[in-house]
Amino acid sequence: MSDAVNGSKSRANRRSFIKKGLTVAGTATASAFAKNREEDSGRLNRGDAAILRFLAAAEIIESDLWIQYNELGGIQDSEVPGGSGSAPYIAALKNLDGDMDQYIHDNTEDEISHFTFINAYLASKGAETVDLDRFRTLQGSRATGAALTGRLTNLMQLTVDTSWYTRYRSRANNPDLDPAFVFPQAIPGLAKGQHPAIPRTDADLSPDAHIQAIANTAAFHFGFIEQGGTSLYPSLAQRVSDLEVLRILLAIGPTETAHFQTWHDKAGNAVNDPLAPLTDPNDHTLVFPNLNITPGGEDFQTNLIMPEPCPFLSRKFPVCSIIRPTATQGAAMGALNAFAQDGLFIGQSREFRELLRDLAEDADEAKREN
Ligand SMILES: [Fe+2]
Repeated sequence: MSDAVNGSKSRANRRSFIKKGLTVAGTATASAFAKNREEDSGRLNRGDAAILRFLAAAEIIESDLWIQYNELGGIQDSEVPGGSGSAPYIAALKNLDGDMDQYIHDNTEDEISHFTFINAYLASKGAETVDLDRFRTLQGSRATGAALTGRLTNLMQLTVDTSWYTRYRSRANNPDLDPAFVFPQAIPGLAKGQHPAIPRTDADLSPDAHIQAIANTAAFHFGFIEQGGTSLYPSLAQRVSDLEVLRILLAIGPTETAHFQTWHDKAGNAVNDPLAPLTDPNDHTLVFPNLNITPGGEDFQTNLIMPEPCPFLSRKFPVCSIIRPTATQGAAMGALNAFAQDGLFIGQSREFRELLRDLAEDADEAKREN
């Protein structure tokens, strides 16, 4: 359905890409993947290494998009260098919360720390690490404040799935139990077409309603990205073998949830005026209503930012407030396809998509060993 990460090449051929995409750290050999950890202590088994490598790749992708947000809308400092900020974009973001620039900065720093840690951990175990630097080829924003450097991800033609908003409010449905159920979009205009989440050039800085629509798009995109990480870690943790690797997933995953919870709250502030929905004057299909009124009701109420209890595992149990989905089968490929359908990889090479597909397949093949 998307410009997906589908390749026609055989898996064996894709292997040739992975070798180019990964840097060998330490002295990884076939024995590094020996299944018997008693005989090969200190090494990761193949599945754990594959899960960590996919997570490193996902975190590198997240870091790339967050760095673009921080250059224009965050705080540029020694912790998150790059860019010099866009005052009109920051002002529009601050209409959602006066601390948006700080939150953007902190989310960016967190993602950088995630991929840096996971790669360092892989290297410490003699396993291959992930380096996507040669794919930093996309043209980013040319608005004042953006760094002029190659990007991995596109933030200027996004199709943002905003169904996470109602999925977390639903008391009746869980995507793991009801895979065919369609959770309504919070902002239907964002879920079709292609929209900028950062100013593309200084021409996007006015009129006010246009840069506000871009900031609002970013706010819903922040929630989309971070709810993805919120599901990905518990989904993959179920197939980890080593307790220390499990600890890594259990410790990083909830920070994604902390991000998500924050963005979920801010997205609800996109329009505070009960009488005036915000319509992008440059794209009349993009409308941000006051969700408390249009459509209104519990599925849209903006302060219902904590997960509603929903069915979990089986409807024979009482409803439970949980992260959703957390099904483990195909979780890595699901996350990758969500990135692709979001438009993040528009303009990226086939080689990039095939490398990521291979990393996701390897992660999804991982099996827990007792
Ligand atoms: Fe992360």
